[in-house]
Amino acid sequence: MDPQTLTELLDVSVLDRLDRIEDLPADELARSSALRKEGYSAEVTAALLTQAQLRKDAVKKLGPFAEDMLFTRDGLAQATRLPVAAHHARRLLGEGEDTGGDNATDDSPDTASTTSAPTIADLGCGIGADSFAFAGMGAQVTAVDADEVTAAIASFNLRHLADAGVEHARAQDVDTADFDALWFDPARRTVGKGTKHGSTARIVDPEDFSPSLSWVIDKAIAAKAAGVKLGPALDHGLIPDEAEAQWVSHLGEVVEVCLYFGAARQRPGRSALVMGDRTLLVHEDDLPDDDEDGVGELGQYLLEPDGAIVRAGLVTALCGPLQAHRVHPKIAYLTTDVAPSGPASAGVSAYEVTDVLPAKIPSLRKALISRGIGSVVIKKRGADIVPDQVRRQLKLPSGDKATLVFTRLGERHVVLLTQPC
Ligand SMILES: C[S@@+](CC[C@H](N)C(=O)[O-])C[C@H]1O[C@@H](n2cnc3c(N)ncnc32)[C@H](O)[C@@H]1O
Repeated sequence: MDPQTLTELLDVSVLDRLDRIEDLPADELARSSALRKEGYSAEVTAALLTQAQLRKDAVKKLGPFAEDMLFTRDGLAQATRLPVAAHHARRLLGEGEDTGGDNATDDSPDTASTTSAPTIADLGCGIGADSFAFAGMGAQVTAVDADEVTAAIASFNLRHLADAGVEHARAQDVDTADFDALWFDPARRTVGKGTKHGSTARIVDPEDFSPSLSWVIDKAIAAKAAGVKLGPALDHGLIPDEAEAQWVSHLGEVVEVCLYFGAARQRPGRSALVMGDRTLLVHEDDLPDDDEDGVGELGQYLLEPDGAIVRAGLVTALCGPLQAHRVHPKIAYLTTDVAPSGPASAGVSAYEVTDVLPAKIPSLRKALISRGIGSVVIKKRGADIVPDQVRRQLKLPSGDKATLVFTRLGERHVVLLTQPC
């Protein structure tokens, strides 16, 4: 959206039309011509239709607040989900993990002890999802974005929060010493060239993030408290000694790794936070001393650890609590004869193993048909197959549903017939 169209969109009567857009026919063409008949320009009509759709899409991330917000497509794609943003806020404000676990330290953050509201600078705020949580949870927020339209949208989205202000500026031009805590979520995608709708591509080199990772980390180390949100595929070698690195999954999807510094760092090292119906925190300190629980026989259950635990390199930490062992030292599946229960079970998806089947397609097909299986979900780890290709090759007639797992037991390649528990 260009700045001129945004200015027109921000007119009270136009915003009111956006709030009432569901009065119009659902069909996009009909809706568009109704808006044109009401006198809106082609640009404003397109903006109204886009915002109506983005508000709908945003409910998944931001809940009902989305219905009162504005977005850019990129801004929404990069926005932090609200429950995860609330977790960031708790960390920067010096509160413990949501798990109620025993990981609190004596090192109480300064931000918790100040009498006035702690100040947080959100340096690259996007449409303002993290700032929304920071201000909503009691911080005084200065949100900054280098993009003019994005900053104006963040300003609109934070308008009800008296303690939040937005500036159109570069993070590099902010005096970071003025704040109790700093928050960074550097831009890691770039607008693609030559694509009509401005599709984006992931930036590979962290020095090309905006601002660059080295600049962000220097600032974070110097801050009283800081958090840096990054993509979950972050190379562990890039994690500075000063940081706590926490991978987070939300409702089964790995969403980020966050580096915490200073008072926001609770326990040094790597951790994984699984957020969903239940919450689980797994920490590097939970790894067994030898970090090798051995590889043993296939048990009645196959356990697939949550992606945040896998990305954090903490799979073996689940072995003790779940009485399980790995199928292979380098493969992130566990197996056990004990049905998973207790807090650690929140960190795995469990499958009951009903059979071990032959791997060759004709024999596998025969084995599945003889068991009445007609539809398969295919999972793989440590197996050189393409699930869609295997599904096509199997050409199963209709029948029951099952999950096939292509993996290894020690050095042996196996196909496990399983049912989700
Ligand atoms: C990943 S998004 C932030 C998303 C945000 N945390 C949220 O939850 O909505 C990164 C933002 O940084 C902004 N940005 C990029 N370079 C910047 C810079 N040098 N200074 C300030 N903002 C910058 C981009 O315009 C983009 O809006």
